[in-house]
Amino acid sequence: MSNQLYDMKLIPMPYGYIKPIDKFEDFEKVIDVFKEPPFSEPLSLKDKLEEYNGYLKNGLALGYYTASGEIMGYAGIMQEVEDIHKPFFNPNIGILNPFYIYGLATRSGYRGKYMVCSSLVKVINDLAITNKIDFIYLRISAAGSKSEHLCLRLGYDNLYQNGSIPVQSCSFVRIDGKMETDERRFLIKPISQKGHIFLFETGSIKQPYDKIAVYEKNE
Ligand SMILES: CC(C)(COP(=O)(O)OP(=O)(O)OC[C@H]1O[C@@H](n2cnc3c(N)ncnc32)[C@H](O)[C@@H]1OP(=O)(O)O)[C@@H](O)C(=O)NCCC(=O)NCCS
Repeated sequence: MSNQLYDMKLIPMPYGYIKPIDKFEDFEKVIDVFKEPPFSEPLSLKDKLEEYNGYLKNGLALGYYTASGEIMGYAGIMQEVEDIHKPFFNPNIGILNPFYIYGLATRSGYRGKYMVCSSLVKVINDLAITNKIDFIYLRISAAGSKSEHLCLRLGYDNLYQNGSIPVQSCSFVRIDGKMETDERRFLIKPISQKGHIFLFETGSIKQPYDKIAVYEKNE
């Protein structure tokens, strides 16, 4: 496999381990979370394979497993800004290397323990530093998402455009065939000094670069 993100070593955790997902069956177990309400996404086998193969090619699907090898949750990142629902960035954003957190889910029995998703997002923050990534962003429901506060705790903030928080309308077909429209917004975390300065100067974030921050690790 030429995707170097998949070369990362398994990370032992207090309740198991985190490693790249290299079996489609594991991926399928976690992605099926989105078939449940409030998402109710139809998610065909083709959709799931496309997402899984997208990570293999151009990103990373990271799984948190129990010690006995049962997958509890995943975080999927893509290494690009390209997506049909991409947020507004300055057109020169291409000079930066992003991580886009495309998917985040914990299977229901493992939620709310400050373990699965929190650990996965922390590992992604660290991976971004070691891979010389400039910023990380993700899309959430505008009305708030269970992942929002968790990401705010881990250094993410709202993405801005012209001084306000842009909200996007996304239409999708639910599992019962009904069409639904959802309002979305974005959270963002600068990683490198270059990323921080660019995002601040182009109005995507409100916090100016702070010398006390940990970015030196990355430079
Ligand atoms: C959002 C989600 C990924 C969080 O994963 P998680 O492993 O439960 O999160 P953690 O236990 O590490 O973090 C605890 C946080 O999750 C929230 N949380 C999510 N589900 C919870 C539950 N069932 N019980 C208690 N807290 C829950 C808490 O609000 C807490 O946040 P806080 O910082 O406000 O205290 C998970 O709830 C999920 O898979 N939801 C369905 C899919 C989804 O919403 N994905 C996000 C799309 S952007």
